[in-house]
Amino acid sequence: MLVDTHAHLNDAKFDGERDIVVARAMEQGVTCIINMGDTMESSEASVQLTEAFVAVYAGVGIHPEEARPMTDADDQQLAEWAEIPKVVAIGEIGLDYYWEKDRAKRELQKRIFIRQLDIARQLHLPVCVHDRDAHGDMLSILQREGRGVRGVMHCFSGSWEMAQELLQMGWYLGIDGPLTFKNAAKLPQMLQRFPLERILVETDSPYMAPVPMRGQRNEPAFVYYVARRAAEIRGESFEDFAAATTENAKHLYGI
Ligand code: NI
Repeated sequence: MLVDTHAHLNDAKFDGERDIVVARAMEQGVTCIINMGDTMESSEASVQLTEAFVAVYAGVGIHPEEARPMTDADDQQLAEWAEIPKVVAIGEIGLDYYWEKDRAKRELQKRIFIRQLDIARQLHLPVCVHDRDAHGDMLSILQREGRGVRGVMHCFSGSWEMAQELLQMGWYLGIDGPLTFKNAAKLPQMLQRFPLERILVETDSPYMAPVPMRGQRNEPAFVYYVARRAAEIRGESFEDFAAATTENAKHLYGI
């Protein structure tokens, strides 16, 4: 049993194939897929997918690459979605300084990230956070503005020190395709030292397909390859690792 804790099934790359993609995931033992929004429109699509598929749960929120000023109507809409039992996270939210070099736009990213952390706190939902090349600002925002909010650092790419800070705050660390790449650098070493009860596995599909599917369109079934590699690196049985990370996902997201 596995949970893909981070997918983007409403991406156009899945058009016409969602039924078969979800069916393949279930055949591979993926019992739940948490599907993230990145705009208000895709968040709505994410909510609709939860109605179409028993196994699909939703995150709703605005991704930093899609940052735009938020309105009270956006807050209201997020709160309405949060009433739906299968909406289990505010996500995907965060900071992306890799794609965004403009200072004013980075400030906007920070503002709407903080705003959505606040919303998550009020709605008692965990957050799924994207952090690319923004580790310093990310950590200081979470320490200052993230009190009382639980979540996962999706596709963790920070330092050992950052991992320690997040673990102390009660956060989870998400691992996906890059762990399986030849150039995975420090991540495999760090993964050996992450506490098992704080690891989540994810695909970020349709992007970042793990080895041996690297270069193909990623899909939730491939979370199997991430989990298999992670268990191998940690010297744990696949079954134990899969069961533990599934328990972690259920615990964080209340599913
Ligand atoms: Ni994502």
